[in-house]
Amino acid sequence: MTESASSSSTSDLAAQVAAIRWYHSIDLGGGLVTPGVDETPYRLARLDLPASFAGQSVLDIGAWDGFFSFEAERRGATRVVAADYFSWHGDGWGRKAGFELARRTLGSHVEDVDVDVMDLSPERLGTFDVVFFLGVLYHLRHPLLALERVASVTRGTLILETVVDMVGIRRPAAAFYPERELNGDPTNWWGPNVPAVEGMLKAVGFADVRAVTPLPSWPHRAARAVSYALRGKNRLGPAFRQDRAVFHARKGRA
Ligand SMILES: C[S@@+](CC[C@H](N)C(=O)[O-])C[C@H]1O[C@@H](n2cnc3c(N)ncnc32)[C@H](O)[C@@H]1O
Repeated sequence: MTESASSSSTSDLAAQVAAIRWYHSIDLGGGLVTPGVDETPYRLARLDLPASFAGQSVLDIGAWDGFFSFEAERRGATRVVAADYFSWHGDGWGRKAGFELARRTLGSHVEDVDVDVMDLSPERLGTFDVVFFLGVLYHLRHPLLALERVASVTRGTLILETVVDMVGIRRPAAAFYPERELNGDPTNWWGPNVPAVEGMLKAVGFADVRAVTPLPSWPHRAARAVSYALRGKNRLGPAFRQDRAVFHARKGRA
């Protein structure tokens, strides 16, 4: 390719990237990173993923732009399936164009399935060694039912990341958001606390359930809540009680 052809394809790609509303920041190479609104690198660091997925199949439920699917592929997974529906075809502001452009540009072999969480089944998708369920649980009206569907397609390890609420309450409990109580977003429904997530995972058949990455200490939480309240990011009480947590859970033998 001549130098001018290559710089015109780079500017074409930049224009295509600019035309999309991105959720994830994905490094497309050549200095081009998609302008996602999510704090993706920070969240990736907290997942405690294994360095290698060599020889394993990975299903990424609620993949959206596909950052975590591409990351699983980059870490050597034999097969990766990105599944979503709401952000690809639903009423939110997301579309599938970001996933498709990133996949093309990265030369990725990640497969895609248009399926809602509630329609997941082993008959439709098969089962996977590793399943990602990241940032989805709190968006669902029926979280326990959804986790049954997630468990049905997991034959190895589930990696779940979610908003947690009511942090500090020891018995399993969940905050209910009938309106826009969480981040002004009407698609958020439930904020379970850590014992509630652990209990739900065990109730749907996972063993060896553990919360990874401990939540910050009380003083840290209090200081962060004050800072959020001063910046108008959240009200003081909810900011103190809410966080995000990551869980690893296993089906079958370790
Ligand atoms: C916050 S994004 C998380 C995307 C990605 N998994 C991540 O962790 O960055 C929520 C994902 O859940 C999916 N989802 C599934 N059912 C949903 C629903 N009923 N309402 C909102 N989002 C839903 C969306 O399509 C979207 O991809």
